[in-house]
Amino acid sequence: MARNPKGPATWTRRHLLGIRELTRGELETILARSADCKKTPPDPKTLRGRRLLTFFAESSTRTRTSFGIAARALGAEVIDLSPAGSSLSKGESLRDTAQTIDAMGVDYAVVRHGASGAPHLVAAAIRGSVVNAGDGSNEHPTQALLDLFTIRERLGRLTGLKIALVGDILHSRVARSNIWAHRLLGNAVTLVGPATLMPRAIETTGAVVTHDFDAAIPEHDVIVMLRLQLERQRAGLFPSTEEYSKLYGLTRERLGRVRKGAIVMHPGPMNRGWEIASESADGPESAILDQVRNGIFVRMAVLSLLNQARSVHPENRMPLTREAEPI
Ligand code: NCD
Repeated sequence: MARNPKGPATWTRRHLLGIRELTRGELETILARSADCKKTPPDPKTLRGRRLLTFFAESSTRTRTSFGIAARALGAEVIDLSPAGSSLSKGESLRDTAQTIDAMGVDYAVVRHGASGAPHLVAAAIRGSVVNAGDGSNEHPTQALLDLFTIRERLGRLTGLKIALVGDILHSRVARSNIWAHRLLGNAVTLVGPATLMPRAIETTGAVVTHDFDAAIPEHDVIVMLRLQLERQRAGLFPSTEEYSKLYGLTRERLGRVRKGAIVMHPGPMNRGWEIASESADGPESAILDQVRNGIFVRMAVLSLLNQARSVHPENRMPLTREAEPI
């Protein structure tokens, strides 16, 4: 991908809360740093003396582990906090929890929460940096970044592409972050799914909506399958999972009709047999495990850039862990 000459030479943000607020230059800065991290292991002293907290109020396999691996590789001390075992379950407000985290000298908080905007609230309450690891159905910026990184690795380019996001768009923060990212890059995005799983007015983002997966399949370079987020659905938004997979599942038959050279992606966790058949998840078109592998490099890049921003903006200097109050 060509570097944008108008892009910033340095990264100056203290937080990564969403793709929507990024410039194309910033997006490219993260991807370039991710490639550096993949090529040469970064300095393990980069985050020495820094404390990173993963605060996940929703379950996670990939994202939390990936941030932990990335942060440790950069030399940070990593602490995991699960709300089930924290005072949030005793009724403490998110703001009070955030202030408590701050008083403990946390330099980085990686936050996942069921409520859209929760990481933004934490960002306003702490002196450290916040990375949004998924907030409600709003954004999941590092997922979109690792998706872009993987697309470039597999297809050799990141522009002039046709991207299909398929399935439960309504509840998907991955879809939203991907829409913003591809809009920055000028790629064509098609949203495929039943009308009941399509957010109202989503076309205002520039994406095109279709309910016809069969017609869309051969038209796209990248097919991103999304998990049916049954835990976020209050009422039945489709008749049955069998019905759903008949219309919107990436079955073996549909896989046979993807464009030559196209790739299949899924952020995980997958519901095999519902939105994706095993043949599609495990075949040569699948980039799903590449996404997982690349997530570590992208998170290393994000953490090291946020760390760098501290010296750009001394007023944003966070408490070093050695200045932390005794617990
Ligand atoms: C996604 C999430 O939690 O938003 N998973 C992930 O982080 N890889 C997608 C999902 O849960 O369906």
